[in-house]
Amino acid sequence: MRVIIQKDYDKLSFWAADHIRASINSFKPTAKRPFVLGLPTGSSPIGVYRNLVSFVKDGSLSFENVVTFNMDEYVGLPESHPQSYHSFMHENLFSHVDIKKENINILNGNATDLEAECADYERRIAKMGGIDLFMGGIGVDGHIAFNEPFSSLSSLTRVKTLTTDTRIVNSRFFDNDMEKVPKMALTVGVKTVTNAREVMLLVNGHAKAQALKAMIEGPVSQACTASALQMHPKAVVVCDRSACGALCLDTFDYFCDIEKGQIL
Ligand code: GLP
Repeated sequence: MRVIIQKDYDKLSFWAADHIRASINSFKPTAKRPFVLGLPTGSSPIGVYRNLVSFVKDGSLSFENVVTFNMDEYVGLPESHPQSYHSFMHENLFSHVDIKKENINILNGNATDLEAECADYERRIAKMGGIDLFMGGIGVDGHIAFNEPFSSLSSLTRVKTLTTDTRIVNSRFFDNDMEKVPKMALTVGVKTVTNAREVMLLVNGHAKAQALKAMIEGPVSQACTASALQMHPKAVVVCDRSACGALCLDTFDYFCDIEKGQIL
């Protein structure tokens, strides 16, 4: 696992966006052989999306031959709801870049048969030959996508009940009213994420310090589903300095030493 430590959120966002740009450009995607990108929602990736939009505008990146799969979506929230992950993705990325509508995949949280929708999502990923790079965020309790603590590390896309903690944290997007936060979501599984050829997680801010510590220093455990990345052959964690607050000094020094040129 690589751990990239950047000075602040802006630098973290640029590093991650630049990494995505370099990955797509070196892949040289075509219509027949598109680059398959997994994407998250939440506040963590907003800066990355801002950078990706500016790369498309300056001509250094194109989404023409990129296929995307989003991580998750609330159950029962209309797609047009401002807090649906459909709305989030269009507002922050899709409506500003040259992606083809048919290349965008987001789980349908209003499907009549939610289980069939999840099974079909896995089939669609497999049909594309798997995901080349899956970007994610992390919850304060160490969850990835909506794989709450004690989700199976071999889980695939499915319906999940959200924990009270997650609904409280996400209530900031719903007028601080937890009752307005849906109780269920569709989410890719831990295994769906780790099946990707590369996984990149964004971790910023002091609130994520314990999650970062558990993910990289703790045991591989379903108590912290992001810890599954320890078993991944190509995982990169991009964090800012304040997210490193709970790491052992030795861990911090190790990654500073091995990743020369980190901006501290
Ligand atoms: C939600 C999402 C996750 C996201 C997490 C952290 O639970 N399902 O994909 O990583 O929130 O969000 P934020 O980036 O806003 O801290």
